[in-house]
Amino acid sequence: MSVSQQVFLRDAMRRLNLTRDVFAARIGVKRRALDTWLLPEGSQEARGMPEVVTRFVTEIVDNEALLKKYAQSAQSGPLRNRIATGGKHQLLSVDQFSRESVEELFRIADLMQPIARRQKVSRVLEGAVLGNLFFEASTRTRVSFGAAFCRLGGSVCDTTGFTFSSMAKGESIYDTSRVMSGYVDAMVVRHPEQGSVAEFARATNIPVVNGGDGPGEHPSQALLDLYTILTEFSRLGKLLDGASVAMVGDLKYGRTVHSLIKLLALYRGLKFTLIAPAGLEMPEYIIEQASKRGHVIEQTASLEAGLPGADVIYATRVQKERFADEKMQGYTAEFQVNKAIIDKYCRPDVVVMHPLPRDSREGAHDLSTDLNEDPRLAIFRQTDNGIPVRMAIFAVLLGVEGLVQHSLRDVTWSPPSHVGPDDSVFHGID
Ligand code: NCD
Repeated sequence: MSVSQQVFLRDAMRRLNLTRDVFAARIGVKRRALDTWLLPEGSQEARGMPEVVTRFVTEIVDNEALLKKYAQSAQSGPLRNRIATGGKHQLLSVDQFSRESVEELFRIADLMQPIARRQKVSRVLEGAVLGNLFFEASTRTRVSFGAAFCRLGGSVCDTTGFTFSSMAKGESIYDTSRVMSGYVDAMVVRHPEQGSVAEFARATNIPVVNGGDGPGEHPSQALLDLYTILTEFSRLGKLLDGASVAMVGDLKYGRTVHSLIKLLALYRGLKFTLIAPAGLEMPEYIIEQASKRGHVIEQTASLEAGLPGADVIYATRVQKERFADEKMQGYTAEFQVNKAIIDKYCRPDVVVMHPLPRDSREGAHDLSTDLNEDPRLAIFRQTDNGIPVRMAIFAVLLGVEGLVQHSLRDVTWSPPSHVGPDDSVFHGID
């Protein structure tokens, strides 16, 4: 006990909000004994308290703190109200989350795993329709949002590309959003301009999810990235508090890293190493937001200097499509995260991530394919986690998360035990 016996006992009674009589009864000792333990040190009648009582009181106080926390979260209502923005059930930025609410979302994602792993089916969103509005290139975000909605029993209507939408005829974001609201029950929107998805969201009362707004944010990607990091760390016996995360590449235009660093900053004592080529550094306002929460942030342009000690390496693609007057075409060869560099500079349990797509063309020097069969490479576990996390987002925004558990039925078909031929053993459906 670092504090005196008297301070410890008084503090415990205050926290538990109990009188001496009731406290004595609660811990099963005579009032007289408690009184002697509470006497000032050095007084004649004072007695030392047995170690077993100290442990018991500590346990009661810790339990009480936990119960209070649960009670508070139950009192403050459903998760969708706690993460709401502008009074609406929409997901536009990771700024809507606290550490508690993000972990609550992940408990719902865990609940979705048997459905994502094709062991169970659910129809809790039967009859609901999702509008997937993608005005920018996408494969995994659009399809995984759609698949997540379908796996909860809903249906999906897609529109892809700017030129095939009425926006090419000059329709405003307001009109498009209002029209779609009459057709569908939720929308996922991706658009090349920062802030555009928030504009869509203002023009409707149905749930809107930001599927990427230019170089702004990509909240669902950051949520599935954090979920992946926590899952990988729990397998490796590591804690996220105090971990070291290296982010590599186009940190200026990469919206996934903008959202991810803000979300990771909800944890304690992290070290971020930001490794970017000159001109593609992380925007200052995001660095400030993370450093205000007490994290260590280092910036470098060299993998050799930045990778040692990292628990996670998060590589990104150079976002050439967003370049204004930047000259760079791709990474130089010294920027490529590959097996040789990981073997040379990183610990054996490092987790290698990338939001994908990786540019596998000659000369692009994006994350190498030579790590494909390496268990340190988590990119396909990351994409797989997109399904349960996006299912959890829909379930929360549409308020059906409490119905999922009892809705589960066995699947009628037999999926393969491993969905990818190179999957590591812990990646399979178990
Ligand atoms: C990213 C994006 O669109 O921001 N892709 C994704 O959604 N997983 C990353 C990228 O395009 O490089």
